[in-house]
Amino acid sequence: FTAELDASDIEKGTYAHYMLKEIEEQPFVIRKIIQQYQDEQGDLTIDSSIVNVLNQADRLYIVAAGTSYHAGLVGKQFLEKLANIPTEVHLASEFVYNMPLLSEKPLFIFISQSGETADSRAVLVEVKKLGHKALTITNVPGSTLSREADYTLLLHAGPEIAVASTKAYTAQIAVLAILADVLRKNKGIEKNIDLAHELAIAANAMEEICDTKDEFEVIASDYLSFVRNAFFIGRTLDYAVCLEGALKLKEISYIQAEGFAGGELKHGPIALIEDGTPVIALATQENVNLNIRGNVKEVVARGANPCIISMEGLEMNGDRFILPAVHELLTPLISVVPLQYISYYAALHRGCDVDKPRNLAKSVTVE
Ligand code: AGP
Repeated sequence: FTAELDASDIEKGTYAHYMLKEIEEQPFVIRKIIQQYQDEQGDLTIDSSIVNVLNQADRLYIVAAGTSYHAGLVGKQFLEKLANIPTEVHLASEFVYNMPLLSEKPLFIFISQSGETADSRAVLVEVKKLGHKALTITNVPGSTLSREADYTLLLHAGPEIAVASTKAYTAQIAVLAILADVLRKNKGIEKNIDLAHELAIAANAMEEICDTKDEFEVIASDYLSFVRNAFFIGRTLDYAVCLEGALKLKEISYIQAEGFAGGELKHGPIALIEDGTPVIALATQENVNLNIRGNVKEVVARGANPCIISMEGLEMNGDRFILPAVHELLTPLISVVPLQYISYYAALHRGCDVDKPRNLAKSVTVE
């Protein structure tokens, strides 16, 4: 008996779904990115023409959609905290119709896994008409957004087949961190960070988390069976990752999920909490650790079913999962992995088509 293996089965190898394969490729991808961006001395570097154009800018405008937009929210933290350059992040589909007041010397950064997203390309066309420079960060060499921008940085993540983006998101975060750190060094800004080393630690931590994936199947079953909605709450960098976690869950399991800034709950959203509402809280940021735990207490008092995902060094009794410690700026690389797995298993338990969710395309080439 020889099953007809089509190309996709072979490429999936032993994995049941592309999404699972791509989640588990993430440690390898981060290591590959370190390697691709290292020079002979082992220092992380990018094309000098890109560094020069970044240095001439007085403000950066990140433009993206969906998961790539969420990666941009993390990238803003790197660019402002490491390289001291003011950075805005905009949804591509809003930007064309609601162009912000631009700075004197803007530089546009388009983040796009496919390099073909029509909403993002529409913005690129507009900013080129205005005579501004653009850098595209993409997984597809030769893609439209790469060809039509002035500069390109590649994700080296390998083809991402599942509609739900996973390894491209963490690859975008890694490349944005490298971009910010190279710019920092070029500006002579001293920071106590050896990014190549910290990224390698993060890759190892991602691998450790992948090894405990069964834990996330239990969490998905405990918290997301038969629920109609789910909350993801976090503060600062964790908030940006909560937005991504909510998108993962909604796009493949069809559970109405939403990411909230923990401090914002009391301004309205907490009214949605009912008995048993699952609330997944990320607690990886030391300076807001007690604040987010206070927010968890508020929702529990209203009947929520809390699932706290914290990090070694910040953990407290009752936390549901404790992530290995990484540099606090790089926590998104590891805090997103449990959320990717939890979404994967929630969709699987519901019998959803994990790799090809309803109504969605891998690359949205229409506006
Ligand atoms: C993410 O899981 C989705 N597939 C979708 O939001 C995607 O990130 C968005 O369409 C942007 O695609 P791009 O990165 O190829 O531009």
